[in-house]
Amino acid sequence: MTDFVDKPLLAVLRGERRDPAPMWLMRQAGRYLPEYRALRAEKGGFLDLVYDPPSAAEVTIQPLRRFPLDGAILFSDILIIPYAMGQDLWFETGEGPRLAPKMTEARIEDLKPQLDRLDPIYETVRLVKAQLSPETTFLGFAGSPWTVATYMIAGQGSREQAEARRLAYADPAKMDMILDMIASMTVDYLSGQIEAGVEAVQLFDSWAGSLAPAQFERFVIARNAWIVSELKKRHPTVPIIGFPKGAGGKIGAYVRETGVDAVGIDETVDPVWAHRELPAGLPVQGNLDPLVLIAGGEPMREAAHRLLDALSDRPHIFNLGHGISQDTPIEQVEQLVELVRSRDR
Ligand code: CP3
Repeated sequence: MTDFVDKPLLAVLRGERRDPAPMWLMRQAGRYLPEYRALRAEKGGFLDLVYDPPSAAEVTIQPLRRFPLDGAILFSDILIIPYAMGQDLWFETGEGPRLAPKMTEARIEDLKPQLDRLDPIYETVRLVKAQLSPETTFLGFAGSPWTVATYMIAGQGSREQAEARRLAYADPAKMDMILDMIASMTVDYLSGQIEAGVEAVQLFDSWAGSLAPAQFERFVIARNAWIVSELKKRHPTVPIIGFPKGAGGKIGAYVRETGVDAVGIDETVDPVWAHRELPAGLPVQGNLDPLVLIAGGEPMREAAHRLLDALSDRPHIFNLGHGISQDTPIEQVEQLVELVRSRDR
């Protein structure tokens, strides 16, 4: 019975304006925190952390012990879906994720789904839920089909997502099948997170910016729209944040055609433009440049105030335009949180 507890972030996701704007930071759990690095070293690696639910729960909560943030985001990764679809997943130190077999070579029928690879994530959600203070909003997430597909196809991060874009032209039927498989698993996965206790979810489409308009329509808009409508059938009241990073001028169409409840904007989007172009009352999340957070001082204060001014007439969730960098000084984050929380509009 926590329904009567005020959760500012959830209220804004449902369309209320709040002063001060609630805030959280993308990638708020991670390497810029010494306590994260210590636990990661103790457990062995990133995936060992993700697959040890008590540790993953601890990492989820670590940033909230330091900063009075309004949201906690589940500690996991968008690549857990390809892993559950049957690809091998590992992280090369200093380089990034690797998936095998690559979908340039394998067929989707060759993969053997291993849905039990999702169970520990739900366990993490339950453990976090039991520890979170009631005014904190608990966010789940998944990658959007196009972004996840770019890793599945190339087997790793790729320049300009060229392998996936090439496959889309060379074998459109295979591309459709990969995207549909990811979308379908993602609906089940997000439903599982919701049933275990998250209160809103974010769809990360980190590579939405690399597509030609017709493909953006099919790979980004249509697939996110499908996920939103399926999820709404099962969980009509749970807000969905869409984050089509790099989508620029296509954000308006994305919002109108996907049915997301809120949209995340990256740091290349002018918040004054976003306010003018996006439907009145639509909650907007973002978009301080993660690099100005590293710089700190007056440039950071100025940028944060400009952002808060630009979005003061609509529901706004203060966030970065992309994930926090690992070399961000903790004092800078403290100053930013203090600035946002103490500001009178
Ligand atoms: O926001 C959060 O704190 C929640 C956890 C979270 C992680 N990854 C943890 C993580 C979330 C939401 C993600 C999303 C994610 N993962 C995206 C989309 C958002 C974005 O940043 O564009 C993408 C593309 C991935 C795939 C991925 N995971 C890459 C490319 C890498 C390696 C690059 C890197 O930053 O190290 C990861 C690893 C990863 N995921 C780390 C964390 C904390 C770093 C792991 C470590 O070395 O400890």
